[in-house]
Formats: sequence, C-alpha cells, structure tokens
Amino acid sequence: MLKTEELRRDHRLLLQLSYPSPDPDYSARVVRALEELGVEALELENPERLRLLGKGFRNIVLVGFKAGVRVALKIRRLDYAVKSTFREAYMLEQANRIGVGPTLLGHSDPVLVMSLVEGIDLTKWLLHTNPPSHAARQTLLEITYQCHRLDRAGIDHRELSDASKHVIVTQGGPVIIDFGSAGFSSRPKNLTSLINYISSKELERVRRDLGLGEVGRQTLRRYKEKYSKEDFEALLSEMNLL
Ligand SMILES: Nc1ncnc2c1ncn2[C@@H]1O[C@H](COP(=O)(O)OP(=O)(O)O)[C@@H](O)[C@H]1O
Ligand SMILES: [Mg+2]
Repeated sequence: MLKTEELRRDHRLLLQLSYPSPDPDYSARVVRALEELGVEALELENPERLRLLGKGFRNIVLVGFKAGVRVALKIRRLDYAVKSTFREAYMLEQANRIGVGPTLLGHSDPVLVMSLVEGIDLTKWLLHTNPPSHAARQTLLEITYQCHRLDRAGIDHRELSDASKHVIVTQGGPVIIDFGSAGFSSRPKNLTSLINYISSKELERVRRDLGLGEVGRQTLRRYKEKYSKEDFEALLSEMNLL
C-alpha cells in the first residue's frame, strides 16, 4: 500500500498513472484528482508496480483505498481523447439507480472511483469453473433481469455482445461493468446483445448442458417493441431459463 501523498515523491510509481506513455504532467493531473476524491492510498503489486486490475482501450483500472475500503480506480489512458469521466459517471449513476453496475463512489476529471468487483469473467466462469447447473442458470437469469431493467430504463450499455469482457461473476452474483460506451436510447439492445452472446458458438456446450432453448426472431422482435414484462417472460420461457 502506498499513501497518495507519498506517490508524488516516487517517480517510478507516479509515472504508472500515465498509460501507455509516462507523462509527468498527466500523472500530476491524476494525483490531483485522486486527492480530490479522497483516495488515501494505492495498492501495490510489488514495490515497483501499482496493482493493475485491468486494461481497456480507454482506461486502466487500479486498486485504491477510500475511507479505508478497497475500491476500483478507473483512470483515463493518455491516448484516449476524452479525458473527463463525467459522462461515464453519469451513466453509471443511472445504472446504479436500477441496481446495475459497480457502485459509483466519486469522479473527478480523468478518474472514476467505484466499488471493486472481485470475481471471474462470465465466459471463463461458465466454461472453466464447472459451476453447478443451477448456479449457472441462476447467474444467466440474473443477468437477463439486469439487461431487462437497463432496457426498460432506456440505458444502452452497447458493449454486451461480448459479455465476457463486461460481466464479472462474483460471490454475490453477476455484475455488469464498464458504462464507458453507454448512452440513452429509445431502442436499447442490452437483452438482445446478451441473447446473441448466449447463442454464440463458444457457449454451445453450456447451452446443451443447461438445456437452454433458442429464442425465436418473432419473440425478440415483439420484445423490442415495448420491452414489456410479458414479452420478457416469453423470451425467458423460450430460452428455458424460468
Ligand atoms: N469495478 C471494477 N472492479 C474490478 N475490476 C474492474 C472494474 N472495472 C473494470 N475492471 C477491470 O478493468 C478492465 C478494464 O475496465 P473497463 O471498464 O472495461 O475499461 P474500458 O472503458 O477502457 O474498456 C475490465 O475488463 C476489468 O477487468
Ligand atoms: Mg471495457
């Protein structure tokens, strides 16, 4: 663990805040945001490296401490044009209102703080941890409900067709992460994307083991007209998830 104020004095670690290239000015800007957000310390992988949880094409995600609690710190990459996390924080906040996503804990300039989601990405969990079939079905059902709530709220995540990157299975259930591409839409495609993912070749064995059924185009089309509870339940029943 390294206190945020000590980070300013350790140049090697400080420069790791600026990815992919070490820019002192950008690192300083990130530290200012961390201080403003009340991030007391960062977690280390080893004495020379900050703990990196993940990397996307827009951000790196580190582990920090805020009010004594371990949190996820999403930090804009230097090579991503949009440095502000304002819009993403706003979309995550909207998702939080319907019980979706990691909890937003704060945001400032290029940093967004949220609850740490500890678990295994969905594809790996389904294919390699041999979950009991009732647990696998329960997890898929829970994600479909979350997608349905997003659809009804008019929030389109936009990156769920490859759900493996953006759904993490935790002890407490699946969590949809990364609202960086999310936006409002009158025709959100969360559940549609998830169904495409479940129908993919990669998950053929899982579908067979769980006895999942195929969704008819007609049922999906009807669902996308009104996103009604009845049409949603018709989808679940065709998928054989109920
Ligand atoms: N709240 C979180 N808790 C734990 N890990 C996270 C969290 N948010 C993101 N990650 C990890 O960091 C990676 C990149 O984050 P992501 O939000 O997808 O960034 P990007 O917007 O750049 O795609 C994810 O694939 C995941 O492994
Ligand atoms: Mg991402």
